[in-house]
Amino acid sequence: MKRHKLLVVDDEKDILRTLTLTFEDDYDVFTARSGIEALSVLERHDIALVMADQRMPEMTGVELLQKAIQLRPNAIRIILTGYTDTAALIQAINKGHIYQYVTKPWDRQELRVTVKRALDSYELYMENERLLLELQAANDRLRDENTFIKKELQKDLKFTEIIGHSAAMRRVFDLVKKVIDTPVAVLLTGETGTGKTLLARYIHYNGPRRDKLFVEQNCGALPEALLESELFGHKKGAFTGAVQDQKGLFEAADGGTVFLDEISEMSPLLQVKLLQILQEGRFRRVGDNSYRQVDVRIISATNKDLDAEIRNNRFRSDLYYRINVFPIHIPPLRERLEDIPLLADFCLQKYSKRFYSRVDGFSEEVVSELSRYNFPGNVRELENLIERAVLLSSSSLIEMGDWLPQPCYNPGVSSRMEQMERSEIIRLLEMHHGKHHLVARDMGMSRTTLWRRLKYYGIQIAEESAISGRAAP
Ligand SMILES: Nc1ncnc2c1ncn2[C@@H]1O[C@H](COP(=O)(O)OP(=O)(O)OP(=O)(O)O)[C@@H](O)[C@H]1O
Ligand SMILES: [Mg+2]
Repeated sequence: MKRHKLLVVDDEKDILRTLTLTFEDDYDVFTARSGIEALSVLERHDIALVMADQRMPEMTGVELLQKAIQLRPNAIRIILTGYTDTAALIQAINKGHIYQYVTKPWDRQELRVTVKRALDSYELYMENERLLLELQAANDRLRDENTFIKKELQKDLKFTEIIGHSAAMRRVFDLVKKVIDTPVAVLLTGETGTGKTLLARYIHYNGPRRDKLFVEQNCGALPEALLESELFGHKKGAFTGAVQDQKGLFEAADGGTVFLDEISEMSPLLQVKLLQILQEGRFRRVGDNSYRQVDVRIISATNKDLDAEIRNNRFRSDLYYRINVFPIHIPPLRERLEDIPLLADFCLQKYSKRFYSRVDGFSEEVVSELSRYNFPGNVRELENLIERAVLLSSSSLIEMGDWLPQPCYNPGVSSRMEQMERSEIIRLLEMHHGKHHLVARDMGMSRTTLWRRLKYYGIQIAEESAISGRAAP
């Protein structure tokens, strides 16, 4: 067992000698001739028990023990005194400054027992402290792991590839390559479903912080107070329900990355706190006075126009400059049609595998039809479509069918062929008084195809006889 360190303090040399002789077999005994000397020993050595004479010049024993609390708060304090009735002594005991007092002259054996008992309780106390700390560390670890599981593992996207060979996506990849190894703040912009979240993960898991946590928080998903506590943590008692100190995401992700989705939804108060993290790397838990330092990379995303938010005083411009050090815009899928076949194929493989389906390709017609659609939900919409198609398909090839969305005719980007086809259909409908079978016959297409074309071109048919073409914007 570990030998404890004892400190005995007395201005009388003989007493120090006696006490040393009493204890030196069992403990490492340090001595001091005055309070001042004792404090310097306490400062340098991990003393488990201090025993001091009450009557010393300059500093009394009680005064010394009071000061000792600051240096060694857990050390056992014993006073040796010939004056059992002094007021200072009683007060010191009442205040808990002293474990026990021993009157002079003492019995050697009794003193040994007293010290032994005191040190037993000291050991218990220290063991308790150690267990508490361990428990706390285990709790913290669990909480981190919990955050990790909650925010990350359930989404098995961690290592998902980013598909795309269009010029637009190649530009995105170039930008990512430039910034991935730096701690610089990145702002991802783009419509819903374009792959902002995917890209944020990609940057984390392929950059130097990959071994630390990646946590994401949607700033629009929680009311201000909850979001604040989620991001920054709180101190026990900071608000009703705060039953214990709690780490926030910024602390959990120390060394890693925090992804703030829908950053435009952050309230003014939280914008200020975020700015402080970006500027000084520090923040305060809710209800706490002291600052904490963290090192996190911040990636934000938005599908709103932040410039407009700034003009309307909903977003701080100083924060904007900090989060927007390195902007990356992901263009909508309709502006990179070349990626559609590739993405469709990627999704097909993914869902085919997931559903143990034998589907392994699309008919050519499907591929060209997919490229006619404008995908307001971008890649997410494409992915959902393909998922449904895989489930519905009964052969190994995905064919045309109800699962395909109605393409949208966009006069602005339509080809001359399309414009001619559209006018021809309208002309024939008028000529045949809206009779579909006649129009289809003249166009050389089936009635279902004609139906799809009518929808595509936005030609509304109230009755078979009344036709109106949607005005081009
Ligand atoms: N280039 C891509 N390659 C492969 N999968 C992609 C690509 N882009 C997006 N996806 C997939 O499309 C879906 C939507 O992407 P993601 O969630 O990243 O979009 P988002 O821009 O974050 O959307 P929101 O603004 O709604 O949060 C995800 O399943 C993602 O894996
Ligand atoms: Mg997202």
